[in-house]
Amino acid sequence: MGEQRYQLHDKLHRHQEAVAIIYGPGTKCEKSNTFYGSRDAKSLQLEAEFTKHRARRPAWDKALSAKKCVEYLPKLYRLTDLMIDCIAKAEGKDDRGVLINHWLKCFVFDMVGDLGYSKSYGCLDSGLIHQGLLEVEKFLAAGVLLTPLPWLVRIISSLPGLPVPMQGLRTFATLSLTERKAAKIESPDVLSYVFRGKKTLTPEEEIEDTMMLQIAAGDTTLSVLTFSMYHLAINPDIQIALRKEIEDHADVTDLAFSAIQDLPLLESVINETLRVHPAVPSGLPRLIPPEGLYVEDMFIPGNTTVSCPTWTIQHSPENFTDPDTWNPFRWITTLETHKPKAFIPFSVGPFNCVGKAFAYMEMKQVLARLVTTFDFQLGSAEDEARVINESQDHTAMTCAPLWLKMEAIVRKDKLCM
Ligand code: HEM
Repeated sequence: MGEQRYQLHDKLHRHQEAVAIIYGPGTKCEKSNTFYGSRDAKSLQLEAEFTKHRARRPAWDKALSAKKCVEYLPKLYRLTDLMIDCIAKAEGKDDRGVLINHWLKCFVFDMVGDLGYSKSYGCLDSGLIHQGLLEVEKFLAAGVLLTPLPWLVRIISSLPGLPVPMQGLRTFATLSLTERKAAKIESPDVLSYVFRGKKTLTPEEEIEDTMMLQIAAGDTTLSVLTFSMYHLAINPDIQIALRKEIEDHADVTDLAFSAIQDLPLLESVINETLRVHPAVPSGLPRLIPPEGLYVEDMFIPGNTTVSCPTWTIQHSPENFTDPDTWNPFRWITTLETHKPKAFIPFSVGPFNCVGKAFAYMEMKQVLARLVTTFDFQLGSAEDEARVINESQDHTAMTCAPLWLKMEAIVRKDKLCM
């Protein structure tokens, strides 16, 4: 019999109800194995069953709690400094400007390695993206074609070994883990907590978790940072207002996260980018329990795979006034229709994003540094529409190449860097 799948986007009034029932706290819907794969050793994210997932999640909650994130600040400051330096040096070397995606990508990948397992990929130092990570990107791009074909995913994931493109990342993850276990760790990283969790991980699960962290934390943050830079570049008034907000509250020559963590416009720029360009735009598949489930008056039969597409929900006029317009001020002076429960970029409920606190910290610090160090606009040959039209959903959103002119801001006779 054919497989049943529903995407709950046709009944706009049902969005919030459907999200709460299918994803929210207390949901009866586990993850769908059809989409999350059926390999024996799984990462936290691929652990589809409640009981198995619950045994692993607390260690991750501890590792990435808002309180613990502050301990990772020295790593964040060091790599942000390095990235700012790289961008300043790149400006003027190419007529098109600075390819901002590239430096942000070098930054987020180095950040995940250092945060996760105290190993930097060295992308900022070399100016090159590590080969293993390039292979993952190819794999995710191919995944776009596979997602609508779950039967094919099932066949591929049941084959012995991993699809070839994942091997590069696996090799790197295995090597990094071996080195990390042999080394003396100066300050805790995420794996320090994960290894101390209630569930003792098998060596295979340790590798899966290391690989998952790279995929979950890298491309997601990258796309939100890149789209934020795009919108600030084409909205100079908002760029200036944001710079002023930060300058009014922080010493921009030595920017501390504590000084910027609660700034309303900074947070609104990030939230609005997450709304208009959700990093994971498609619906996250969930499995209806065997007895079936009602979403308001609609009965969904048991064992059906369902999803609520994030992009559609966040672009619905039922949920947000003028939904296709990027307007960060809607988060400050609420417009006519503004339903915060329809804002779900990190998902909700038991399987939601465990890295949300770190992601906000990282994105705020990086954007604040970029906005107070550089005055930026689209590169001379850049086309506003092209960036939007050529960006693609590769499971995580991939922003098209974005060239920016990054002019260093001069403060009191010295460059601000
Ligand atoms: C803008 C940045 C980010 C966005 C929009 C985002 C979004 C998401 C979403 C939607 C999920 C749920 C996926 C699913 O149901 O299969 C998820 C899961 C996850 N994310 Fe994030 N993420 C971001 C950054 C991060 C960061 C920085 C980290 C780590 C430091 C991280 C770690 C994870 C992990 C480990 C999971 C799996 C959680 C679980 O299954 O219990 N994410 N993320």
